[in-house]
Amino acid sequence: MIIDTHAHYDDERFDDDREELLTGMKAKGIDIIVNASATVKGCFDSLALAEKYDFVYTMAGIHPSDTLDLEEPGVFEEIKKVAAHKKCVAIGEIGLDYYWDEPDREIQKKWFAEQLDFAKEIGKPVNIHSRDAAADTLDIMKAEGAKDLGGIIHCFSYGTEMAKEYLNMGFHIGVGGVITFKNGKKLKEVVEYAPLDRIVLETDCPYLAPEPYRGKRNQSDYLHMVAEEIANIKNITKEEVVRITRDNALRVYGINV
Ligand code: NI
Repeated sequence: MIIDTHAHYDDERFDDDREELLTGMKAKGIDIIVNASATVKGCFDSLALAEKYDFVYTMAGIHPSDTLDLEEPGVFEEIKKVAAHKKCVAIGEIGLDYYWDEPDREIQKKWFAEQLDFAKEIGKPVNIHSRDAAADTLDIMKAEGAKDLGGIIHCFSYGTEMAKEYLNMGFHIGVGGVITFKNGKKLKEVVEYAPLDRIVLETDCPYLAPEPYRGKRNQSDYLHMVAEEIANIKNITKEEVVRITRDNALRVYGINV
């Protein structure tokens, strides 16, 4: 069975068929879904999903593009309450996004550091979003002692040199639909390079559907295609990819099944 380590089922694109889709996942070989939070509302919506479905877990955290919301008094305290819930297995997604490049980088950096700090305080791993911000992400992680936290670099988009740095810090590489793209050469190299026991599967659905669904709404069972592609790259069976990435996900999130 496959674990989806990063999904967004609270997204409105699932409003019409969320229940049907989620309850049908087990029959399609997906038995655990970790839903990520990005916004303040998302933290609560995601928690509600984790409370409704036993196979759904959640994260609490604010995406770098939404960190301005954390400047409001009391907001971070609310997030902290969600993070303490027993079905909240990580702080995320948190990080830096210089592709969209707002809010101001100083605000993004401040709240990335604060949320890493909080993860340390509460003893939970982190799920990191880092886009066009490799060096700053690494600097802040080192300064905050992220090595002791563990976690996942979600939707890994850098090359093998950076992968090496994050792997050295004990982090896992999140691999999704991009691995099936014709222009996904850089990620294919990273997957070839990284040991399988440090790779986890993730959809980031509704975004980043793999081929042949590229551009359409993504969903967790499409991870079969991602596992297949990793198996091709590593020249092993798909079953082995599923088994080991599953163990990795359970270990990194501390989920007992
Ligand atoms: Ni995401």
